[in-house]
Amino acid sequence: EGVGGPAGAGPAGTTPGFPTVRPRRLRGSAAMRRLVAETRLHPADLILPVFTMEGLTEPVPVRSMPGVVQHSRDSLRKAAVEAAEAGVGGIMLFGLPRQKDAVGSGAWDPDGVLQQAIRDVVAEVGDALVVAADTCLDEFTDHGHCGVLDEHGRVDNDATLELYGRMALAQAEAGVHLVAPSGMMDGQVGHLRRTLDAAGFADTGILAYTAKYASAFFGPFREAVNSSLTGDRRTYQQDPANARESMRELALDVAEGADMVIVKPAMSYLDIVRQVADAVDVPVVAYQVSGEYAMVEAAAANGWVERERIIDETLVSIRRAGARSILTYWAVEVAQRLR
Ligand code: PBG
Repeated sequence: EGVGGPAGAGPAGTTPGFPTVRPRRLRGSAAMRRLVAETRLHPADLILPVFTMEGLTEPVPVRSMPGVVQHSRDSLRKAAVEAAEAGVGGIMLFGLPRQKDAVGSGAWDPDGVLQQAIRDVVAEVGDALVVAADTCLDEFTDHGHCGVLDEHGRVDNDATLELYGRMALAQAEAGVHLVAPSGMMDGQVGHLRRTLDAAGFADTGILAYTAKYASAFFGPFREAVNSSLTGDRRTYQQDPANARESMRELALDVAEGADMVIVKPAMSYLDIVRQVADAVDVPVVAYQVSGEYAMVEAAAANGWVERERIIDETLVSIRRAGARSILTYWAVEVAQRLR
């Protein structure tokens, strides 16, 4: 018999023509909804991105990201402990140097801000959190690009790879668990794998930004990292119009040795998250970026959306689309609420 029941064919006690199969039965109580939920959020699914600025004595709020700060050494250690206590799965470190130059040499300085942050966080909570670091030059270059420029002002792919290699080695020496190349240079994963292996860091993993789009959703991040960028990153980050291109990047990154892959941003790219998750067996991480955070916080501050409900809904949708883990600035708050 048909799902809706043909007119006049209802079982005894039901009105002819009314449904016998009723999906609403599974939505009738909170306990039933919890029992049948296909997707759950767990604190360990969340990775907290953090910014730390060289030489700060107090944390400095990021105006465009209410609740997010640029950390001092001290406040970073406290934030890492708080994240570990909340059961968050990992932490992703971004370092902001005092001095920038054309090649971003602060990025591989053994005593540079990011290496110091890695050592501090690993010493403080290294057994309780996976510690990842951004392996990209944009915070360290005075022009703000993710690599070095050639004589025409274009980012030079292969010269940049060499510098990413130095940066990854400095991070590995500082004890990082995962390097996270985010510059979208061709061959970056393979180059880092070979460089790390040759220096005895075969156990340092690569969390690869595989599908990273030239996105306006990164707007508030540029303030968070005191970015010097003028212009855009369209010659290396992907065109938001493209999905198949992400599958090509994915095949390359996995072949080159990526241990996990990132899709970024998250919310406008859930189709990419799904396609990536269906195509490979490495863990997929989605990055809920600064603009996604700022839009919700701004609307909530105006009373236009229900803040906690909308945060949870964004996170559950990202998991539903196939992400194993989520980089989110709300990681600690949500983890604490889930506990
Ligand atoms: C580049 C980098 C960016 C973000 C993370 N790593 C910005 C960019 O590519 O311009 C954005 C993160 C966010 O918006 O939350 N190293």
